[in-house]
Amino acid sequence: MVAKIIDGRELAEKVLDKAKLDVAKLAPKPCLAIVLVGDNPASIVYTNKKHEACKKVGIESKNIKLPENSSESDVIAWIRKLNADNSVDGILVQVPLPGGIDEDRVLAEVAKEKDVDGFQPENFGKLALGLPGITPCTPKGVIRMLKESGVTLPGKHAVVMGRSRIVGKPLALLLLNENCTVSICHSRTKDVGAITRQADIVCVAVGKPKTLTADMVKEGTIVIDAGTNREGEKLVGDVDFDAVKEKASMITPVPGGVGPMTIAMLIENTVQCYKERRKAK
Ligand code: GUN
Repeated sequence: MVAKIIDGRELAEKVLDKAKLDVAKLAPKPCLAIVLVGDNPASIVYTNKKHEACKKVGIESKNIKLPENSSESDVIAWIRKLNADNSVDGILVQVPLPGGIDEDRVLAEVAKEKDVDGFQPENFGKLALGLPGITPCTPKGVIRMLKESGVTLPGKHAVVMGRSRIVGKPLALLLLNENCTVSICHSRTKDVGAITRQADIVCVAVGKPKTLTADMVKEGTIVIDAGTNREGEKLVGDVDFDAVKEKASMITPVPGGVGPMTIAMLIENTVQCYKERRKAK
């Protein structure tokens, strides 16, 4: 079997086109504040893409760029300022934060009604309980891609590789909320291949190239690659794409898969925060 390639760029464009029409009806325009601490090259690329997407759909964005040697209290002071600024509808703190800054403490400071990432503890708790709220962008994008590709989720065995705050853990919860049978594999899991070979859907979010190889999947599996790794100039995911695509029924490429959908979902979440906070229709 040769897999159908799930085109994340095309789907993201559709989401952004719809958001643009939605935003055109709003006054004042929504405003997203993006906090970038330090000069992690990947974070600079991602946040630039987020600002570009805002511009494309008519959302205003604020670029809060703080130096690498910022203290935790400097970052928290900025978040409190943005929380109190009525013109700001969404706040995104790009992670990872530089060493020495406690991400849990910083992310817990984001006002829950401006938390476009859904990482604030109350919002994350709602996700765990299956209550409506703001859903983290990458996992939300993955579910959207599966549904738009015609995948029926209830009863499927979904295996998530990785347990990070931004992808693995919230994605496992979302898949569970969609009535999948969910297994989570991580760095301490024994015989990962024995588990992934049972999967109808494998989602990989580990941050290491070729983590999922062809011998680890059964014929016809759906493969979602949420990894982004730089190999020289090249961007690669966590899946051995060329080999796995010969066995999978569907697969997301890197680049052009999950990445563009993460940004599209951020735009959706910003509009959602705007509407809920300002009680706009
Ligand atoms: N770093 C990598 N992905 C993300 C994301 O979705 N949100 C934030 N805040 N940081 C990230």
